[in-house]
Amino acid sequence: MKLVLASKNQKKLVEMNDILSHLGIEVCSEEEAGVGLEVEETGATFEENSLLKAKAVMEASGLPAIADDSGLCVECLNGAPGVYSARYGGEGLSDEERYRILLENMRGQMTRAAKFVSVITCCFPNGGVLTARGECPGSIAYAPMGEGGFGYDPVFFVPELKKTFAQLSAEEKNAISHRGKALEAFKEKLEEYLG
Ligand code: IMP
Repeated sequence: MKLVLASKNQKKLVEMNDILSHLGIEVCSEEEAGVGLEVEETGATFEENSLLKAKAVMEASGLPAIADDSGLCVECLNGAPGVYSARYGGEGLSDEERYRILLENMRGQMTRAAKFVSVITCCFPNGGVLTARGECPGSIAYAPMGEGGFGYDPVFFVPELKKTFAQLSAEEKNAISHRGKALEAFKEKLEEYLG
């Protein structure tokens, strides 16, 4: 089965294929499916934005489409950057510029609890919709560590492993990450849905 990923994020595409290929599911890019949509993320929640993206790409491609809306929620910042994670600090910044702004905004903060959230939505051309949510608790490091992953990975510290997401192998990250957990839950719902 082929699903179109409603995203331009190449790293998300790789993570999704790593996790879903065991099920015989191939996730392809919008480009491969001949769509290049710029879906405005106007929702107030991960659930709303995830549905907006999956629905728009399903309608444009005529194929089942899967979206991940994800982000980092920091306790002492009242859940920010949250649904604004990709835009935190303003438009056009690099991942590094964004996490440096986050570190600056948390300077002197001793309470550094945070979580990553991922909401996966899959929309089918027959109107079917599947949704699954995954969360990964952790804390924000005082300085970036590691070279792997993307986004806020260098500053997202996992206390049990004493490493940031950027210091984990792809397999280690997928085993505990918000997206890994959401995709595991999604896999079960999809198996049920497909019978
Ligand atoms: P989205 O593409 O609108 O879902 O934006 C998600 C944003 O949240 C990304 O651009 C990253 O900044 C951040 N994010 C989501 N998942 C991860 C992750 O696994 N590692 C690091 N940052 C992430």
